[in-house]
Amino acid sequence: MSFPATNKADSIRHFLTLTDINRHEFNTLIQRAIALKTIQRNGEIYEPLKNKVLAMIFEKSSTRTRVSFETGMTQFGGHALFLSPRDTQLGRGEPVEDSARVLSSMVDCIMVRTFDHHKAELLAKYSSVPVINGLTDDVHPCQLLADMQTYAEQRGNIQGKTVTWVGDGNNMCHSYMHAAKILDFKLNIACPPGFEPAARFTEECKDNIHITHDALTACENSDLIVTDVWASMGQEEEQKIREQAFADFQVTGKHMQVANKAALFMHCLPAHRGEEVAHDVIDGNQSVVWQEAENRLHAQKALLEFLLVG
Ligand code: CP
Ligand code: NVA
Repeated sequence: MSFPATNKADSIRHFLTLTDINRHEFNTLIQRAIALKTIQRNGEIYEPLKNKVLAMIFEKSSTRTRVSFETGMTQFGGHALFLSPRDTQLGRGEPVEDSARVLSSMVDCIMVRTFDHHKAELLAKYSSVPVINGLTDDVHPCQLLADMQTYAEQRGNIQGKTVTWVGDGNNMCHSYMHAAKILDFKLNIACPPGFEPAARFTEECKDNIHITHDALTACENSDLIVTDVWASMGQEEEQKIREQAFADFQVTGKHMQVANKAALFMHCLPAHRGEEVAHDVIDGNQSVVWQEAENRLHAQKALLEFLLVG
């Protein structure tokens, strides 16, 4: 006798990568996030998730993702549980499949931040409730909901615009590639040789991306310039090697100058001023990093509502 992974598997929507939503859903989430932000700012009480519980598994550090999900659940009338491997059985080797079955029998949604993307997929496979990816080594889809909300608020529709990614071909870069494909914008990726995005993402998004090793030229006529840390979580021991490899990949005033006049600067944060971005850029008037960070709250509330209420 074989047991199905979950008895409701077919009807559950997970959010493991941006490709789990289509263009219409992505745009709807952006508009809903903007509306939820207004509701929140007006001090209106809106509690569509009363008595609902979100379990948050964090195998890596977090400030924004944890606080935005936890605050969002509270504002929605629900509750969020912070679960770390240090004090749950997950850290002592309890199988992900078993943890998924147990957690999903008690809570209404699971968010996971982990290293191996396969672990998030396994959790979703054995969960009877929606699973949200709060960052894996492969992708960071929640951040893109906030980034695209921010662009929409500041400049309108991103379709047909040019975005330039400067830096590592990492999880954030992969999610930008997915966003480019879904929302149909052009993405220049300027990275040092050897730090290109993974081939499967390049293949998947080939119609919307252009990979180069010249950051300054890549930024010409861009509408949005984005960067991220040179060494991601889990790559701390590569910091010194990466500082050398990425020396020509700091976003400076020069990069902003060759971009379009109305260009914006984004960074998912945390940032390292003087490494991937110059002080005057991240703290300058084209930077929208604080709006972007706040929008994690509103965008993920839209996502929670979409997954749990419909
Ligand atoms: N941008 C982001 O995900 O931040 P945290 O690591 O603080 O959650
Ligand atoms: N690329 C970074 C993003 C942090 C939000 C990391 O994975 O550490």
